[in-house]
Amino acid sequence: MAYEKLFESIKIGSTELKNRYVMAPCNFIFSDWTGLINEEDIAYYVARAKGGASVCIVGAILCTELGKEVANIPWPYMTSIEHIPGLAMLAESIHLAGAKAFAQILPASGSRGNPMRDDVQPIAPSAGVEYVFSTDQSHGQAESILKSRIKGRWLKEKYLSHPKPREITVAEMEQLIKESAQNAKLAVLAGFDGVELHLCHHYILDQFRDPRFNKRTDKYGGSRENRHRFILEYAEAVIKSLREEREDFTIGVRVGSECGEEGGYTLEDTMWLAEKLQELGIDYWSTSIGFPPIPECKMDSKVDGGYLQWSRKLRDVLKVPILTASVHSPDLAEEAVTKGWTDLIGLGRPLVADPELPNKVKENRVGDITKCLKDNLCWVGFDMCLPGRCSQNPELGREKYNPKYLLTEGFKGAKMLPAVCRK
Ligand SMILES: Cc1cc2nc3c(=O)[nH]c(=O)nc-3n(C[C@H](O)[C@H](O)[C@H](O)COP(=O)(O)O)c2cc1C
Ligand code: SF4
Repeated sequence: MAYEKLFESIKIGSTELKNRYVMAPCNFIFSDWTGLINEEDIAYYVARAKGGASVCIVGAILCTELGKEVANIPWPYMTSIEHIPGLAMLAESIHLAGAKAFAQILPASGSRGNPMRDDVQPIAPSAGVEYVFSTDQSHGQAESILKSRIKGRWLKEKYLSHPKPREITVAEMEQLIKESAQNAKLAVLAGFDGVELHLCHHYILDQFRDPRFNKRTDKYGGSRENRHRFILEYAEAVIKSLREEREDFTIGVRVGSECGEEGGYTLEDTMWLAEKLQELGIDYWSTSIGFPPIPECKMDSKVDGGYLQWSRKLRDVLKVPILTASVHSPDLAEEAVTKGWTDLIGLGRPLVADPELPNKVKENRVGDITKCLKDNLCWVGFDMCLPGRCSQNPELGREKYNPKYLLTEGFKGAKMLPAVCRK
């Protein structure tokens, strides 16, 4: 086999993965503001599981009431028992389609508000430091796409405005921690194999790390220790709660590496954080970007595999397996895993454009892969609460109409039992 190393199994925590290709968390809006999982969500993940990914990480699920209140987009929710049937069907469907299922959890979005939700003021470490769209992950691209595509004048003005956040109180921070620790346990009930703590992408926890956004003068602002206090208190509480619930549950973290602008957090800060998170007992680390990303890691960068530079450096402090996203070329992915730069390859947009990518690589049909163009139309739609669409894959968001993704086999006997009832 040409891509031998990519198709070697690996154990992360207590979860055995059949290969090194992971579906990176990529949330799309197929749902409404109820936060319930629907058929579009399930078929979207089933397509990627059937396409050969070893584990599907279900994109950010909001776990707190305050998070829901200030949500910038309709995220999936996991705050009460009413969300369990949909999440359980999702985890079960991913399993039936041949992959493991992890749930990525997020306490709240952060200063990134929704310009269309006038009645909702976003929360942030400090008041007034707004989230500027043009320096977002898409870097000007989002803004230029918006300018050229939105026809209505009022809409254009609205979407290019930036709601000003208010400062989150210490009582609210404590509440976010308490609820997240409690509600993370619902992922066990829903039958997921693991949970990933979303600690990056300039949502509330990540913004505490960043001196440009965190101007606090209490014990949560100022020194490196103080700026990381909230993230560490949060991670400690969630990990402890999950370990108490089920010892053999896989727990990972997704963390921003460094900001591509002076004054943001640095790779040294992240190496320091990596040691602390490792002490808390994480099972894997997922490398991601700071805000704004350094040039070669921007969403429209011509460079492939930019995040690998961080994973290679983080190896010095991390003993747990490392997952690295944004490696689009299978040749580079094979090289990176073979040379030990990373253990796992996270596919975000490449799997959006072609859910069958891992199978095609395995079968040595790389030429048949529909490539992601990094034009970021999927991303812009996401920020505008429009249903997920891809310029290269007309089936995105419409997978439920493809009989290939209907789970007709395996619906017999014990496999039908909810995960908690299985031996
Ligand atoms: C539409 C869309 C939604 C995303 N949603 C999430 C998410 O929920 N959680 C997360 O950690 N990253 C999210 N990401 C980031 C991806 O996981 C990934 O890191 C990024 O797209 C770069 O990797 P890629 O080049 O393989 O796409 C999202 C990206 C896109 C394009
Ligand atoms: S081709 Fe464009 S729309 Fe499709 S996944 Fe890639 S960036 Fe997104």
